[in-house]
Amino acid sequence: MKELHITAENLKKSFKIPLLKEGLRGSFENLFRREHEIINALIDVNFKISEGEIVSYIGPNGAGKSTTIKILTGIIMPDSGDLNILGKNFNRNRNGILKQIGVMFGNRSRLFWNLPVKESYGFLKNLYEIDDTSYKSNLEFLSSALDIENLIGKQVRTLSLGQRIRCELAAILLHSPKIVFLDEPTVGLDSWAKWKIREELKRINKEFKTTVLITSHDTNDIDVAGRIILLDKGRKIFDGDKKVFTEKFGSSDYSVRVEFETNAEIKEELFKTIVSRINSFENSVLKFSVGQSDPLFKFLKDIDYIKPIKDLHIDRESLDDVIRKIYAGT
Ligand SMILES: Nc1ncnc2c1ncn2[C@@H]1O[C@H](COP(=O)(O)OP(=O)(O)OP(=O)(O)O)[C@@H](O)[C@H]1O
Ligand SMILES: [Mg+2]
Repeated sequence: MKELHITAENLKKSFKIPLLKEGLRGSFENLFRREHEIINALIDVNFKISEGEIVSYIGPNGAGKSTTIKILTGIIMPDSGDLNILGKNFNRNRNGILKQIGVMFGNRSRLFWNLPVKESYGFLKNLYEIDDTSYKSNLEFLSSALDIENLIGKQVRTLSLGQRIRCELAAILLHSPKIVFLDEPTVGLDSWAKWKIREELKRINKEFKTTVLITSHDTNDIDVAGRIILLDKGRKIFDGDKKVFTEKFGSSDYSVRVEFETNAEIKEELFKTIVSRINSFENSVLKFSVGQSDPLFKFLKDIDYIKPIKDLHIDRESLDDVIRKIYAGT
């Protein structure tokens, strides 16, 4: 029986925001009588997550994903509800728990901008009191898993977004956290870079048994997870196995579009051995469909051997369509 890593019970959070009237008269009125709007960001959200699970926490903009992550990492307090992390009440054991988790918000950096990446790692080593042996072995594993050996000597500001995100991931994993929270970690990356990072996360999860909660508003991002929690307007509307989710709500096919570098030497016959159903292959752009039961990643891994790829898109049913289906009760 696996240990429960997160138990969230009836989490509620609302925000009160002032409704400001416009114009001179409005500003005058605002001084005396201010009206407020209440936004229910989370409404009785419940879930239990076990050790080693990778959970994709998805929902459209404003669904309450970041609010949940902020509550689970102690940045904000819920209005009510109970939270147990690593078997302990979060409120009463906050400091001990915070040492054992890692968090990454897509657009915020943990790294010192003007210094080489490894300087930030040294800082984190001291902050988390990581002993020399664990630091060395973790850094070694993460450098190779995240393909950053050649980056950690460089100044952070010289890195591309994708390179920086890999270095950020290593930064939050250095102290061997038992749980990591990733809030839209791959936002802004092209689909190829996103896919690579998802594969790397799976490797890290396998090696360290790290529990991973990853948010996204894109159904294409759910491949990394074994389980999906879907949130809409502050309410949980689906929680279950990814297979059940895709069978119930996904379209029957993924459509894949691979764009190669124009100078790449590509033999169409080669692709016929990988993909039986090519929809079109023109101007270095290959389009094909893959059924849901196909082991999609086998195709993509094989394609990886036939680089160089400029861009890759794998599209699933959009989140809006999925949510519509759930409300329609299909
Ligand atoms: N500090 C705040 N003050 C007021 N309202 C807030 C605050 N933080 C979040 N909200 C509101 O709470 C709701 C949930 O926001 P949240 O950031 O959790 O959504 P999200 O699912 O992360 O969305 P996105 O995909 O856009 O990141 C939104 O309506 C948002 O406007
Ligand atoms: Mg958010």
